[in-house]
Amino acid sequence: MSKNRVTRRQFLNYTLTGVGGFMAAGVLMPMLRFAIDPALQVKAEGDFVQTSKKIADINEDPVKVDFTFEQVDAWYKSDVTEAAWVYRDGDRIVALSPVCKHLGCTVNWEGDPAHKNQFFCACHAGRYEKSGKNIPGTPPLGPLDEYEVSEKDGFLLLGKKIANTLV
Ligand code: FES
Repeated sequence: MSKNRVTRRQFLNYTLTGVGGFMAAGVLMPMLRFAIDPALQVKAEGDFVQTSKKIADINEDPVKVDFTFEQVDAWYKSDVTEAAWVYRDGDRIVALSPVCKHLGCTVNWEGDPAHKNQFFCACHAGRYEKSGKNIPGTPPLGPLDEYEVSEKDGFLLLGKKIANTLV
């Protein structure tokens, strides 16, 4: 019998170690990939979302414009639809968030017949001027947020929500 001969015990050790390592890698690699997947994704923050609203059709009267974008929440992707109140202010296109700064209900343009030229939140009678400035004495304590706006091929593009720059 040769001195270098592998014993049955050594053979079993090598085999089980190799097979066990291979199986562990097969289990751990997908878990590792799953855990760091969001870090590997290319970020699209700051991108503008195209709307179906033509710039030429926007006038001084606020209109509600819906837009849809893909939202990535860790590993979960979903299509989210949001809205903006859009109007023209001189050369500028204004897009305001419809989310009330009191408790988050949706505001409507001239939603209260008693107060023309204002945004109205029906939840607690919150009111805002056309610029989004909250009207003192009503529940909201801050102005409506604004969306960054851009234009492509004559259509309105909406970007990130930012603090109101009009007030
Ligand atoms: S949520 Fe708008 S006034 Fe309260």
